[in-house]
Amino acid sequence: MNNRAFYITTPIYYVNDDPHIGHAYTTILADVLSRYHRNAGEETLFLTGLDEHGQKVQQAASNRDVAPQQHCDEMAPRFTRLWEKLHISNDDFIRTTEDRHKRVVQDILERVYANGDIYEDEYEGLYSVSEERFITDKEAQTGEFRDIKELKEKNYFFKMGNYQQALIDHISSHPTFIQPEHRKNEIAGFLKQPLNDLCISRPKSRLNWGIELPFDSNYVTYVWFDALINYITAAGFSSDQESFSKWWPASYHLIGKDILTTHAVYWPTMLMSAKIELPVSIFAHGWWLMGESKMSKSMGNVIDPMDLIDDYGVDPVRYYLMREMVLGQDANFTLESFIKRYNSDLANDFGNLLSRITTLVKKNFAGILPEPGKLTQPELDIRSSAEDLVELVNDKIRSMNINDAIEEIFQFIRSVNRYMEYQAPWKLIKEDKSSAGRVLYTAAESLRISAMLLSPVMPNRTKDLFHALNNDSVSPKWGGLQPGRELRHHEPLFPRIELKMEKQKPEIKVENPENMITFEDFKKVDLRTAEIVQAEKVDGADRLLKIQVKMGADTRQIVAGIAEYYKPDDLIGKKVILVANLKPVEIKGVESQGMLLAASDESSLTLVGLDDNDLPSGLNVS
Ligand code: ME8
Ligand code: MG
Repeated sequence: MNNRAFYITTPIYYVNDDPHIGHAYTTILADVLSRYHRNAGEETLFLTGLDEHGQKVQQAASNRDVAPQQHCDEMAPRFTRLWEKLHISNDDFIRTTEDRHKRVVQDILERVYANGDIYEDEYEGLYSVSEERFITDKEAQTGEFRDIKELKEKNYFFKMGNYQQALIDHISSHPTFIQPEHRKNEIAGFLKQPLNDLCISRPKSRLNWGIELPFDSNYVTYVWFDALINYITAAGFSSDQESFSKWWPASYHLIGKDILTTHAVYWPTMLMSAKIELPVSIFAHGWWLMGESKMSKSMGNVIDPMDLIDDYGVDPVRYYLMREMVLGQDANFTLESFIKRYNSDLANDFGNLLSRITTLVKKNFAGILPEPGKLTQPELDIRSSAEDLVELVNDKIRSMNINDAIEEIFQFIRSVNRYMEYQAPWKLIKEDKSSAGRVLYTAAESLRISAMLLSPVMPNRTKDLFHALNNDSVSPKWGGLQPGRELRHHEPLFPRIELKMEKQKPEIKVENPENMITFEDFKKVDLRTAEIVQAEKVDGADRLLKIQVKMGADTRQIVAGIAEYYKPDDLIGKKVILVANLKPVEIKGVESQGMLLAASDESSLTLVGLDDNDLPSGLNVS
């Protein structure tokens, strides 16, 4: 595969609404893979674009009261601007309303028609407006289809069934044609039933926003038959033979699992009929979920990627999306896990390592990267795990285990942090400067290699890191950093995200939640410092003492149940804390005009006093 040109595509997104994080995800994934293959020296074509025809788009335009083409022209920049903001490095951006595409769709229709695979028929059945297709009675009963109506119409049909066996054979002889494995099994299962023919036209009387059928001007092409063809249009089919034979078949069609059948059944049978090679691989990833449900426009639970980027930066968003989703499975998007990953991986493990190195080099080597000198065993170990890492990441990315590849890189970074801790160059510097230099060079070179491997995921911050290290080597081989160069000033690569207080504070546990008081309630309690000036037993009550306290210019009499713990004489001169606005009560016939604070359990009691017994009485306590 290495020598072949690498051609990767994303779905072309509907322009019926703004892009959200789900669209951003597939596009970033394609970007990461493209950058990886480009870095590996492979020629790469990365295509994304927009699906502009069909009922959904016509509906969205009419909702906004504009013509469909105008609607598309106004929506397209929302996507291209987001891709720029996300640093998407696509080579082409296709819109299905472009002439180059219309020509190819009509060309393919003619080929398939000439081949005898298209016929006209009157069809009566159930039609799902939301899905834009005829559905079977069985499908209607699943409840998964909205806006179902009975329709009787003349239409054109594509004989998919003619290619059913050929497709089954292709799938079994090309084990990586549909990935991951469980999606392949899903399609293989689906193909056990006879394939229905595919209705590929819409009468203009019902829908006119589409590409006209070349053999019947009363019809436009069904949006999926139109959209799928974008992948060969952009590669140069029937317009640029040289380009087409270079790029086609595509290495990967990346898609979400929602559009697996159209890509793994409609598209290959269309290509077979038109006698065009099938793509090498179709890869269907899972869904980003918010809580339990899919993030989707109709659910209204979409995260706007723009907000995240504005708050935290492009690279951390790219990192999170790539690190968190196991390709092929669903993943949960939460702000909490985003911040956790950011702080622990990016800020602590990665960003801090750079800051530690540059700070030490600045302080002890006048900012000049020291010579590695002769490597000792710990450095040889690090160097060999860096070499292994390059291989491992290569394997993982080429087998679409992106999150594993990233995790391997971070395990390496964490091992370099441990090496730094253990070698402690900040101590070593005093006894053995050249050893300290060797450690710092080794850590810096490890960071360079890690950053190089992470650059497809985080193209911007890794560039900042290279700049800080004054590095221009992109070689995966150990020793790319040049000693003797001056390191450059840099800001923290990933400043920690400090959570707002209400998120950080631990949950408060109170014995009786219904007794919780507000600050306003608490402020009503008048607490004062007070000095005990006199104390005596209360006649006939063993436990009680009658106490006189001075509170500024005032004196108060308090009856307190502390006779078991304090002798009256020992109390004189003690500074204590008094609840000064407690309603007076009579205890054993003696008035008590307040209460002293005390800490107690069953067997002991201590009056709450003051650290500084010389503090005057009458002060406010709060
Ligand atoms: O289906 N999680 O366009 P579309 C992950 N025009 N990925 C998601 C996602 C989510 N919650 N939501 C959307 C169409 N996606 C057609 C495609 S291709 C010839 C025509 C991504 O705007 C994912 O890649 O509905 C999914 O397949 C695609 O957006 C659907 O985008
Ligand atoms: Mg969709």
